[in-house]
Amino acid sequence: MTTITVSTNDGVARVTLARPDVRNAFNADVIAELRDTFEQLSNDPQIRAVVLKGEGKSFCGGADINWMRGALDLSYDENVADAEKMSDMFRAIDRCSKPVIGRIHGAALGGGAGLTAVCDIALASDDTLFGFTEVKLGIIPAVISPFVLAKIGTSHARALFVTGERFDAARALHIGLVHEVMPAEALDAAVERVLGEIASAGPSAVAAAKALVPQVDAASYDASRDITARAIAKQRTSEEGQEGLRAFLERRKATFAR
Ligand code: COA
Repeated sequence: MTTITVSTNDGVARVTLARPDVRNAFNADVIAELRDTFEQLSNDPQIRAVVLKGEGKSFCGGADINWMRGALDLSYDENVADAEKMSDMFRAIDRCSKPVIGRIHGAALGGGAGLTAVCDIALASDDTLFGFTEVKLGIIPAVISPFVLAKIGTSHARALFVTGERFDAARALHIGLVHEVMPAEALDAAVERVLGEIASAGPSAVAAAKALVPQVDAASYDASRDITARAIAKQRTSEEGQEGLRAFLERRKATFAR
């Protein structure tokens, strides 16, 4: 790995964007490595949570502008293929079966704001600068838009996409792009607190709870009635569901809880 680092410890994988000199802007290599890494972590039974963070001054300055300059010579079809690869990366993070905690600091611009949107829990330092700044470069936040819309809704997306304005952490919290805002020095402890919550929950329940959200979101009520009834029945009859309920009734710690 050259553009990201991955360390695992005690069931937690920490994925770090590691190009601090360009504020962790992503190019084709980063895109491929992130996609592969999140696909592997999603299938790794030892992993219970993933932390996504950035090395150096900023979380992520978005797509690498020098790399995009190379795209000026690409044909329409080559641009489509490039964008589809980027889409696959965002999808791999979005659909990772493990909860993804974003440790957001410095700047999260363009695709960096997109990365924030695909984190299940985004914790941001109060001095972080956000923005869907693509229109300022004459392009659009296309690939990230399904993930961003799912997070902040069409009203905020329309306002922020057309202006490309930069906004502060308080506004990111207000629109639901991030979940907690705090001084930078409190970020690591907040990540540990969230990891502690996840470690005390049933791993298959956590994965099923995460998978449920997009399924129900995409379904009509009639369809969701069936989806949700089957999902809870599956979990209640699973070994983990039985153990969790029994442990609670017997006033003991469940075997899956760390
Ligand atoms: N692509 C390529 N290089 C980038 C980059 C990006 N998206 N974002 C930052 N960099 C590079 C800068 O060009 C600079 O390179 P240099 O040292 O060779 O001059 C280096 O990272 C540091 O950037 P700088 O602006 O000096 O750092 P900063 O900490 O003051 O500000 C940002 C960080 C992210 C706020 C600022 O760099 C920025 O606004 N970047 C553009 C982000 C953007 O518009 N992204 C949307 C892409 S669609």
